[in-house]
Amino acid sequence: MRLVFMGPPGAGKGTQAKILREKLAVPQVSTGDILRARKAAGTLPAELAKIMASGGLVPDQAVVELVGERLAEPDCTKGFLLDGFPRTVAQADALDKMLGARDQKIDVAIVIQVPDELLIERAVLRRTDKRTGQIYHLKYNPPPPGADLEHRPDDQEDVVRKRLRAYADSTAAVIPHYEKQGVVRRVDGTKDVASVTKAIFAALGI
Ligand code: AP5
Repeated sequence: MRLVFMGPPGAGKGTQAKILREKLAVPQVSTGDILRARKAAGTLPAELAKIMASGGLVPDQAVVELVGERLAEPDCTKGFLLDGFPRTVAQADALDKMLGARDQKIDVAIVIQVPDELLIERAVLRRTDKRTGQIYHLKYNPPPPGADLEHRPDDQEDVVRKRLRAYADSTAAVIPHYEKQGVVRRVDGTKDVASVTKAIFAALGI
């Protein structure tokens, strides 16, 4: 199955994608994770790191290229779960073209819906374990003792607000793109993690 996970910053895309990748046994391809890994390795161009830190969107060409490389890897042949991509209509068009060349298409676009007032708290209190990549929340999903926690620099409130604007300005327009293809499934993301997982499984009929 080829899936796209959509939703605003902090909606729970990463949390749910990690659960679903185990269930479907397909890789999770997160452009945010790939970009952060490159930054940590010192291979992300400085101008892209600056855009990420300020809450803006990295230029389409850069992310399209990295997704193209990742989807060409052998583990993606039986399906994948895209998390955080596409984020603009131009990226969605590029993805369609990339998949069309292999006679493939996106089967389902899951849209996790959460109102802005909850998103700020979710992002600001998020912590990620540097060693395992596990996502925690100081209030809703506290980390275990001994976790090696990281607070993402773009999870400061002012930057989160800018990311929410980028979502409204550029990414929300990707939903109609997939509506035209008849593959959108909307899920209420305001409930607890297990309930959202259940709703996603139901939307996928699994
Ligand atoms: P990216 O890493 O993709 O960030 P994002 O889309 O803003 O999404 P987040 O990771 O913030 O949130 P999420 O929905 O995954 O939520 P999570 O599960 O962690 O992108 C970062 C940056 O990279 C961008 O700003 C941009 O600069 C660049 N970039 C990446 N892709 C790009 C692209 N395609 N084009 C251009 N630029 C790109 O959950 C959030 C918190 O809530 C956690 O603490 C979690 O524990 C908690 N939580 C989750 N679910 C629940 C629940 N049901 N109830 C209570 N708490 C919950």
